[in-house]
Amino acid sequence: MSHAIIELKNIVYAFPDRENALNGLTFHLHHGEKLGLFGPNGAGKTTMLHILMGLITPNTGEIALFGTTMTDKDMFNEARLRIGFLFQHSDDQLFCPTVLDDVAFGPLNQGLSKDEAASRAQEALQAVGLSGFEGRIPHRLSGGEKKLVALATILSMRPEVLILDEPTTGLSPEAKDRLIGILRNLDMARLVVSHDPDFLTATTDRLIAIRDGQIRPGELKPHTHTHVHEEGDTPHQHD
Ligand SMILES: Nc1ncnc2c1ncn2[C@@H]1O[C@H](COP(=O)(O)OP(=O)(O)O)[C@@H](O)[C@H]1O
Ligand SMILES: [Mg+2]
Repeated sequence: MSHAIIELKNIVYAFPDRENALNGLTFHLHHGEKLGLFGPNGAGKTTMLHILMGLITPNTGEIALFGTTMTDKDMFNEARLRIGFLFQHSDDQLFCPTVLDDVAFGPLNQGLSKDEAASRAQEALQAVGLSGFEGRIPHRLSGGEKKLVALATILSMRPEVLILDEPTTGLSPEAKDRLIGILRNLDMARLVVSHDPDFLTATTDRLIAIRDGQIRPGELKPHTHTHVHEEGDTPHQHD
């Protein structure tokens, strides 16, 4: 297979007793690429991400990560240490008693010492604007705070590529702007899944879509919309 970060070839997958969710899907993410993926609810976006992470095994098809075809669980486990994967539901990502434990978990898993992992965790929490949250209990945080902690759990691993599944779900407009700022400051290759066209345009360079279980060119129609802000009366700009 070619030297892409992620390569999916002819992936077919159906959940038990369902029609195919993915129907011969082929996809590449190359080094330096920032791709945005959109598509209606139920189109198979999350399923595709779970397949490329090795969390679901496709019925047929081939997956290569960092230029190597994945043939067993151990290979996926190793490749996953280099990928920052943000789950659609933050509760799937946060399972430790404290925020610090959750954010240090990845670096510890990569083999760093406890001190090194804690310092990586603190750095990552600072990057998402949550310094001081170290001792908080993850499952008691707001949805937006959970999402940012979840992002910190992957940034602390200094991944080579980011894969974000609906990262703006549950975020306030302020938290969303903060996330856009964080992502624009990172030069990492990425695949961002979102139904929010403004967010995708701000955080990626090229759009693709998923329809009928396959990847299609993504064309967003220019549109205008009204929106509300707490400071809506203050003059402001959007780019
Ligand atoms: N665990 C599951 N069991 C059965 N069907 C599922 C499961 N998860 C998702 N599906 C179905 O698979 C299809 C694709 O779902 P999903 O990948 O979550 O879509 P998206 O992320 O694009 O909204 C949908 O029809 C969904 O209902
Ligand atoms: Mg989804």
